[in-house]
Amino acid sequence: MSLKIIGTGKALPERTVTNDELAGMVDTNDEWIISKTGIKERRVCTWETAASLAEQAGRRAVERAGLALSEIDMLICATVSGDYVTPSLACCVLERLGVSCPAFDISAACPGFVYALDAADAYITSGKAKNILIVAAERMSRNLDWNDRATCILMGDGAGACVVTAGNALKYSRLWAAGEAGMLYVDSGTGNSPFADAPSPRGYIHMQGQQVFKFAVRAVESEIRLALEKLNMNAEAVDYFVLHQANKRIIDSARLKLKQPEAKFPVNIDRYGNLSAASIPVLLDEMLAEGKIAPGTALVLMAFGGGPTAGISVLVWE
Ligand code: UT7
Repeated sequence: MSLKIIGTGKALPERTVTNDELAGMVDTNDEWIISKTGIKERRVCTWETAASLAEQAGRRAVERAGLALSEIDMLICATVSGDYVTPSLACCVLERLGVSCPAFDISAACPGFVYALDAADAYITSGKAKNILIVAAERMSRNLDWNDRATCILMGDGAGACVVTAGNALKYSRLWAAGEAGMLYVDSGTGNSPFADAPSPRGYIHMQGQQVFKFAVRAVESEIRLALEKLNMNAEAVDYFVLHQANKRIIDSARLKLKQPEAKFPVNIDRYGNLSAASIPVLLDEMLAEGKIAPGTALVLMAFGGGPTAGISVLVWE
């Protein structure tokens, strides 16, 4: 393990969409959404793009790291909702930042940021990169069927970023994936091939909500327990469990199973909904702004998502 985070940033679209506003569009209501998910409102892109949000978050992270953009020698974007299939979101961000370095996207759904941290660790360890900018940015509003009440209430748009460099903050990293696409998938957009057997899909998200929920509850607890066991730590030694913000009930379930106080489980799902890969870095940026993180703070970052995939990192802040 060879890295530390030296700067973070976030960017959210200007437009807030409340539960009441959604209740005017589909058969739902504020009470159902809050009690089932913990979401009160979310941000949705109007003029913003995945690349514009990613650029804003990335610039802030580099600024806070005290680096010049020219010192970034690798850019990794975690996303499943970039503006184009190609070029990668990372290349779009490079163009906006006016820098030139190796750049690529990681597609690992909601744990994308944790996957990117793991990849960055490998590149830094191998000496192939020194200062890596990681940006997780999602514009899932383009992939939602806004007539489907089961999914359109869940997601929001946003970006979170960090700069990592050589250090000893990362103590543990484990990635996991399996193949069960039917649980949660997004069609890969449209086309008009006259040879296809069926009409092209429309790029919407499809989710077996209860299946994902059960998988998530199990994965969060088992991965955290495994990480703590490997590090010979107990849950009391962790200052914050920075969990993927998909459903407040999943976060509460982890808290109850680990028997830890609510204050150790920061949330922003109430304000942003599920930001997919951007969820954890946006939360990290807010925790730093609130002064919750200082040298020595022990953090568990854990996310799960479509694939299914899961990823966990344990950091002791430097
Ligand atoms: O980051 C990616 C990972 N994604 C997740 O982690 C999501 C995990 N899953 C969940 O968070 C939950 O499954 C949901 C919040 C999506 C749904 O909660 P649920 O307790 O699993 O509800 P359900 O799907 O079983 O639906 C219960 C009822 C159904 O009605 P009937 O069949 O009981 O009459 C649904 O049709 O609630 C209905 N329903 C709604 N009612 C009002 C579904 N969506 C809505 C809605 N408003 N928006």
